[in-house]
Amino acid sequence: MFRSVCFFIIVNVASGANIFAIFSTPSISHQVVFQPIWRELSLRGHKVTVVTPNPLKDPTLTNLTEIDVSHSYSIFSLQAFIDNSHFLPHQQMKLAVDYFIKPIFESQLNYPDVMKILKDNNSHFDLVISEMFCAPAYGFAYKFNAPWVGMLSLPDMSTASMAVGNPLHPVLNPDSMLGYGRRLSFWERLISTYSQIRYTLRYDYEIMPELDRIARKYFGDDMPYLGDIEKNVSIILTTHNFITSKPKPTVPALIEIGNVHLKKNVKLPQDLQKELDKATNGVIYFSLGSNVKSANISSQLRNVIISSFAELPYTILWKWETDHLPGKPDNVITRKWLPQEAVLAHPNVKAFITQGGLQSMEEAIYYRKPLIGMPFFADQMKNVRSIAEHGIGVALNTDTLTKEKLKSAILEVVNDKKYKEKISELSDLMWDQPMSGLDTAIWWIEYVIRHKGAKHLRSPLLDLPLYQYLLLDVLAFVFGVIATTLGLLYAAYIYTKPVIQGVVGKNKVKSN
Ligand SMILES: *[C@@H]1O[C@H](CO)[C@@H](O)[C@H](O)[C@H]1NC(C)=O
Ligand SMILES: *[C@@H]1O[C@H](CO)[C@@H](O)[C@H](O)[C@H]1NC(C)=O
Ligand SMILES: *[C@@H]1O[C@H](CO)[C@@H](O)[C@H](O)[C@H]1NC(C)=O
Ligand SMILES: *[C@@H]1O[C@H](CO)[C@@H](O)[C@H](O)[C@H]1NC(C)=O
Repeated sequence: MFRSVCFFIIVNVASGANIFAIFSTPSISHQVVFQPIWRELSLRGHKVTVVTPNPLKDPTLTNLTEIDVSHSYSIFSLQAFIDNSHFLPHQQMKLAVDYFIKPIFESQLNYPDVMKILKDNNSHFDLVISEMFCAPAYGFAYKFNAPWVGMLSLPDMSTASMAVGNPLHPVLNPDSMLGYGRRLSFWERLISTYSQIRYTLRYDYEIMPELDRIARKYFGDDMPYLGDIEKNVSIILTTHNFITSKPKPTVPALIEIGNVHLKKNVKLPQDLQKELDKATNGVIYFSLGSNVKSANISSQLRNVIISSFAELPYTILWKWETDHLPGKPDNVITRKWLPQEAVLAHPNVKAFITQGGLQSMEEAIYYRKPLIGMPFFADQMKNVRSIAEHGIGVALNTDTLTKEKLKSAILEVVNDKKYKEKISELSDLMWDQPMSGLDTAIWWIEYVIRHKGAKHLRSPLLDLPLYQYLLLDVLAFVFGVIATTLGLLYAAYIYTKPVIQGVVGKNKVKSN
């Protein structure tokens, strides 16, 4: 009886929670990962309020309140990140603070509907969910005095590991912004080590204090230090697959989810369906994703691509965002927007030329289409390296791309069966999992609601001084003992040497 009452109460609490979520990043490739989660939470009877630049606007979701901050798209430009893709992770983080986190966060918090919730002394929430990227938003956890869950649409972000006390290792799991592959050369190991130390110090001593000042403007001076709120996160859900990220040890509070955004039953518009059905010689699908506009790549690169496409015996379907593609060859079809999953599902599509976004790669693997990678920035370099390392396609470098290189890469990927076989094999592996990414995410979020946080999962690393973690005191002691012992032995030798020599000398004299 007691048990069933407890069970009832627990289930009840978890099924009717009041959830506040803020997913700040104006980028569809981030938002598509979060959308299914807030949708599903609302369908399971939670009352969800979400701040997002990409609301679902689905009137059947009656438990969902979406605050549309799509104006954020006009505030920020990716160009600074694309131009500085060679920056080390700590420099990119600083860039993100100046060009992205600060302006986006402030504009979203000044948005009237968000302001209203912030100023309302009666607003009450049981849980806060925040994208792990936009740190000042963690202040909502303080404002509502609620446990909070972090979400990330990127794998391997160092700040997420640092927040839950997951050990970072510069060689086993280098920061994804470094773009390194599975095996690091000596110089890469050296740079990764430097980069990690620099990143940690800069984040803790320069960036976090700055973010704390920004958050304080909105949440008030009574707020605990933002860095402490960050480390108070209950769990972090991070998108992951074993193809773009190496397997790594994770603390229980760092939960890897994958393939959350896949819809699976997307239909092609009729005109496109006809075009693709007709193209029995094969279709190459070319899209640089939602962040990099192919209408915005350099004209030199565009000409290389166009001249190469013109010589191929295939139909090319190109996601091109303006009305006119200058010099468009006859075998090229352009569309401003494409239902990517439906395109990849079409049997005539033979290969996918991608910028290497995580979601695009997951879709390609699901629909078993071999890849040609053409990276521009952020984690794309690393993802594209993993295409080649896993043998599911060919990696290209946009800086040194020529007509011949692109053409031969496409011909190779279409004609050599090994790429298709390998990606099919990996597809089978990726789907053989105990629970879908979405179910895993929802289960853990409700777990945090049921237990009002997850303090028991807190990694001991978060409360350990760095010198203890690095064993500096232990090593100092051991080396001290060894040095003292050796020193004493040496001193003993020096002091006893004349005596021994004297004795030996006397004996020698005697025997003579
Ligand atoms: C809304 O939540 C209630 C429980 O609070 C649930 O019974 C209902 O199915 C939910 N409706 C929708 C459309 O999700
Ligand atoms: C909320 O509380 C603060 C201080 O606790 C007060 O200054 C403010 O006027 C209150 N706001 C409303 C809308 O009641
Ligand atoms: C950590 O979270 C708990 C409740 O979830 C809260 O009571 C506490 O004040 C938080 N501490 C910090 C530093 O945010
Ligand atoms: C390309 O990028 C530049 C620089 O950021 C921008 O001014 C321009 O509007 C972009 N063009 C298109 C077609 O997106």
